[in-house]
Amino acid sequence: MKARVLQHGRLMASLESELAERFDLHPLWKEADRKAFLAAHGHEFVGLATSARFGADRTLIEALPRLAVIANFGVGVDTIDLQAARERGVAVSNTPDVLTDCVADLAFGLLIDVARRLSAADRFVRRGDWPEGQFPLATRVWGKKLGIVGLGRIGNAIARRAGGFDMTVRYHNRRLVEDSPYDYEASLPALAAWADFLVVACAGGAATRHLVSRDVIDALGPAGFLVNISRGSVVDEAVLVEALQAGRIAGAALDVFEDEPNVPPALFVLDNVVLLPHIASATNETRQAMADCVLANLRSWFDSGRLLTPVL
Ligand code: 8YV
Repeated sequence: MKARVLQHGRLMASLESELAERFDLHPLWKEADRKAFLAAHGHEFVGLATSARFGADRTLIEALPRLAVIANFGVGVDTIDLQAARERGVAVSNTPDVLTDCVADLAFGLLIDVARRLSAADRFVRRGDWPEGQFPLATRVWGKKLGIVGLGRIGNAIARRAGGFDMTVRYHNRRLVEDSPYDYEASLPALAAWADFLVVACAGGAATRHLVSRDVIDALGPAGFLVNISRGSVVDEAVLVEALQAGRIAGAALDVFEDEPNVPPALFVLDNVVLLPHIASATNETRQAMADCVLANLRSWFDSGRLLTPVL
């Protein structure tokens, strides 16, 4: 008999069909009254497939009394209540490594875009403004100072790319990373004050909420740029908007927001921001690798009781 697996939100179509082939998959997102459905059928499910976007909160985990495993499509597990999963002995997997380089590529794309004003220049051409005059000068990237917040897999991949641009890299992390070739800065405001570009690459969740605070943004200063490919929650968005409006920082390039998919409308009218709809891992190749990883974890769990990329 196929194991009954609940699918929280929409996933890639190919992953949905592969999951449906291997498991008795039920799409929770199709239920009009989820609460009533879970009350009647919650006890049937042993697995949960979800994504960084939909996660699994305590209410959902508690509504599934026989739940044994959660497979997350995404490396970030901040939307999964890990404490609730731990209390219930539920195993959790994510999709690390396979997305690292695409996310780092996008971080660098954002950095170059906001500094050299690529998106703004593209708008300038499309508006037909070129014949009226030259596009204003922008900011050099190569040789500048790059501060990385969170030197994990993705932070390191961003740092490696910075080498190609002859940039000097320093990082801030919960703790010093032994054997790292980059200088550690224990104070985040000090890193921001030093950096020309501050790139946020740490994990989301309660521990990093509003880590990029007013102090950090002010330390980055009117010549500094902020890039965020981690989670919107890491940056105090209201303070960032205010700082951008007042010119207290030079610009920001954001792939993530505090209340996705809602982006503060105040940002739409600013030309010194680049706004992306959370696409850092969104290449065909990487999303396929993430889908493979979700499926492999669930298969492995049900075949051998072992996760391949466990978080818990
Ligand atoms: C999401 C992400 O998985 O990996 C992460 O943590 O944020 C993304 O790759 C993707 O947007 C689907 O929710």
